[in-house]
Parts: sequence; C-alpha cells; structure tokens
Amino acid sequence: MPTMNVDGKNIAWDGKKMILQACLDAGMEIPHYCYHQGLSIVASCRICLVEIESPDPKDPAKLVKVPKLVPSCQTPAVDGMKVHSISPKSVANQKAVMEFLLLNHPLDCPVCDQAGECHLQDYSYQYGRSESRFEEDKAKKPKKEIGKHVLLYSDRCIMCTRCVRFTREISGTGELGVFGRGHREEIDVFQGKSLDNPLSGNVIDICPVGALLDKDFLFTQRVWFLKKTASISPFSSGGENIFIEHNQGRVYRIKPRFNADVNKWWISDDIRYGWDFIHNNRLQAPAAKGLPQELTAGQSIGQLNQIIKNAAATASASTVLVLSPYDSTEEMFLAALWIRRVDPQAWLVLNPPKVDGQDQIFKNPSTGAVTYTLHAEKAPNHKGAEKVLAKLSGNICTLADLPGKIQSGKIHAGIVMADPLAHSDAALEAALGALENLVVLSTRPDGLAARVALALPVCTWAEKSGVFENAAGRIQAFQQAIAPLENTRSSGGIFWDLMDLAGTYDPVAVRRMMTELGLTEYANVAIPEHHEKIELMQFTEL
Ligand code: SF4
Ligand code: FES
Repeated sequence: MPTMNVDGKNIAWDGKKMILQACLDAGMEIPHYCYHQGLSIVASCRICLVEIESPDPKDPAKLVKVPKLVPSCQTPAVDGMKVHSISPKSVANQKAVMEFLLLNHPLDCPVCDQAGECHLQDYSYQYGRSESRFEEDKAKKPKKEIGKHVLLYSDRCIMCTRCVRFTREISGTGELGVFGRGHREEIDVFQGKSLDNPLSGNVIDICPVGALLDKDFLFTQRVWFLKKTASISPFSSGGENIFIEHNQGRVYRIKPRFNADVNKWWISDDIRYGWDFIHNNRLQAPAAKGLPQELTAGQSIGQLNQIIKNAAATASASTVLVLSPYDSTEEMFLAALWIRRVDPQAWLVLNPPKVDGQDQIFKNPSTGAVTYTLHAEKAPNHKGAEKVLAKLSGNICTLADLPGKIQSGKIHAGIVMADPLAHSDAALEAALGALENLVVLSTRPDGLAARVALALPVCTWAEKSGVFENAAGRIQAFQQAIAPLENTRSSGGIFWDLMDLAGTYDPVAVRRMMTELGLTEYANVAIPEHHEKIELMQFTEL
C-alpha cells in the first residue's frame, strides 16, 4: 500500500487518491470548502493549499520541494511524498483565504441556522483574525426563496460552487449558476427557473456555510441541541440511509447518512420532508366499537386476542392477517407466527406497496454515471414481507381474494397492520369493508381505524427499532430515535406479549428466532451507532 508523510504522520491509502481525500480517509483534516467527494474537483476556494515534497521521478529516493503551494484536493497523492499542511507557508495561506472570504461575509452567526455546523465559523475560529482590516462597506446581496424547500442568503455565500455542481452533475437539472463578476458574483437560479428538482434539499447539506437553508428547519432548533439516530428511510424501497435528528422527543429534520452502496451522500426530498406523520394525525388511544369506557393497553391486547380466538374456534371460519410493508420484518414475523399459532388456517395477506410510475434514474449528463435512483415503490420492506410469507407458507392469498372469502363466511375476523401513509386506504376498505370483527394496528385515527371493532395505536418507525430489506435485498437495521407517543406501542411489542415471550420486545431476539428457523441472513445484521449529539464538525462526512 502506498504511504506518504503528512505533518509528521505516515498515512496509507488504496488506489488513486488526491492528497486531501487520502488525509480525510485517514482521519486527518486539511481545511477545504469547494471539495466534495461526490462532485467534480474545481480547486477554486484555495484554502486547502499545502506545501509538498515529491519523489524525483528520476531518483525516487530523492524528494523535490515543489516551489508553490498546491491544492491538496486536486493533487494526486504519491508514494513517498511529504505533505506540510501546518507549515508557516500553508497556515499563512489559510489565514489569507479566511480573511478574503470574511471581507463581505455578514457577522450574523447568532441568528444563522448554520451556526454550530458551519465550516466558515469553524475555520474562522482556527485561522481567522479577531478583527477585520476591511474598512469599506460590505457588499449587500439579496435573500430569497429559490425553490419549494430552499432559501438563499446570498451575502453568506463563499462561491464554492458545490450547489451549482450538484445540480449539473447529480440531479442533472442545472437550475443554478454563477452570475456577475468580482465582489458582485452571486449564485442564483436561471431566469424563469426554480430549484424544484426531486433532490433539491441536498444542496442545503453540501453548502459549507449558511447560504442555502432549509425552509422547514429555519429557526426551529439550534443544531447543538440535536441528537441524531441512524435510521433507514421508510418512504421507498431504496433503503436510503438517513439520520433522524431530534430533541426532547420531537423530530426536527432528516439528513442523509453516507452509504457508498445505497444512497451515497444524497436523499430525495420525499424522504427529507415526508416525516410529519410522526407528530400529526396520530391515533392517541385504543378505540373499541360498542365499548363505553376507554381501554387500557393491556385490555386492548386482551380484546384483540379474544376476537381472533373466537373466530378461530368457529369450525367453518378462519381469520386473516394483513401484513404491512411499512413494518419491520421482525414485527411481521411475530404477527404471522402468533396468528398461525392461534389459528393454523389463518390467511396471510400482503398489503401491496404503492408503486408510483417507474424508478426515476438520475445521471451525470457528462459521464452518464448513475448518481441516484428514486424508487417507484413507496414502502421500505416489501422484500421483508415476502420473506415472512415464504417462510410461513400455508394459507396465503391476495387482497383481491378477500371479499369473496369474507362473503362466503370463510373468514370471520382479521388483523390489519395499517400503512401509516394512507396509500392503501381505498384498497383495504374494498377488501375488508365487509368484515365486522376487524382489528387495526394503526398510527392514524382515520381510514379503517375509524370504523373497525378495535383500533390499537402503534408507533411510527422513528419510535422503534428493527430491520427493513430494500429492493436490492439488503437487510439494514434502523434504531429507535424518540420515545413512543403516550399510549402507543410497536406492533412487535403487541405480538411479543401475545406470544407470551419474557421481558420486553426485543427485535434482536426475534432475529435470532428467525435465524434458528432457517432465515440465516438475519444472523448478523449490523446495528448502526447512536450519536448523543450531532458532531459539530463533520468534515469527513460533508
Ligand atoms: S450557496 Fe453555498 S454551496 Fe452554493 S456556492 Fe455559495 S457557499 Fe457554495
Ligand atoms: S478545497 Fe481545494 S481548492 Fe477548495
């Protein structure tokens, strides 16, 4: 493996890498603004310049000092090289670049949403002057809305062009450009355009300063109060890796979590902004038709047990369990295991996920490389549901088969694990509308939950842990971010109690049961780490 010496420390790397990337991968930081691993290299901000001594091609044992500073983001790392990023010459350049960038930058950190995760703020602390020598008036530039989700505060922009390159190379939509020259230079959308592509929110993440801001998150929370929990997107079959950022039981935003094999650094706006169902329109307590008093959680589970057992005891009839591809595989597995234990003839049905047209593939227009896939299937765990059905086989049918079976008296009671996003309300109503003894496990009070024999409030994915399997068959764990809403439990917890298992619901224990039953792919699912605080300096992630 090639090695080089950076500020006295030897670091090694694989393959071809630029000096900056090799350093970042080794956990060493060199200040940078315009460089982003997912974008082309323009080497325009000049803060990453370093001094290097490179092996002489004619005599590799001899090091030749390069007379000028070189951009570490754009200079290939060479075996045997020496890099000086904290030498007096390199630091003088970092200070000069900082002074230049701060000439026109407003001093509004106390009211800027980016404070706490701003590279300009962090580097200013390390390399900036305590006083400005600039005596002229700062250039005034506009604040404006440039898209449905994105605000541009032009006077905070440092012209790194990451956002412009994103729209040209990742979304391929090219709405943004650089307009004007000199100190009048500005980022803006082209005339008549707005930044409304399905990946638009990513420009907020990659902007190293507070120039591009999230309208939804604006002034809602200081970032240093946020905790972040590693999770998986529940909005599509892509299995996009995300962080849920939250404080005191409330989710404030969703950010992409880097995964080279799944979503890289990006997520779609559907994922970023689709989470309001966590805090809105929730079923708050068990609701039973015909019972005057409110049920406790224990009573409602007893009632569910009774409804299914009574139907299973009817010689001519059976029961049905409708699985939701929004639930974790463990929950569906426990639910199916339990109903088959109570009623071996129970029908298992998969509520099919909504499919919205075809997958939308984004490509870099210059290279043709696929940059992101927006999956048409709008549920996270279709594959997991299919696996549960395959394992438990026996009586399996489709939603379309149910009305006939209900009308002929073959099915007398059922359980629906409802879809939290209401995509399938009409299909469920058409399939199960005639069934009187129906229990719904739902996050919402509407849909079937509003009129069935019993509705049990359950958690959203942010309030529980488990695994989803994406369209490519990748099994990924997600972690509980916030405490469940009062009176709600996970579907897994409800079936865990019905199965009479000891202790509290434990998805890892369920995965062990699944492994023992031959689903060996659940043996070693990696659990992502929990972050008590967001890291305020996330250079290697950005
Ligand atoms: S708006 Fe942000 S990302 Fe775009 S050029 Fe300015 S500083 Fe860079
Ligand atoms: S990060 Fe190298 S020049 Fe901007």
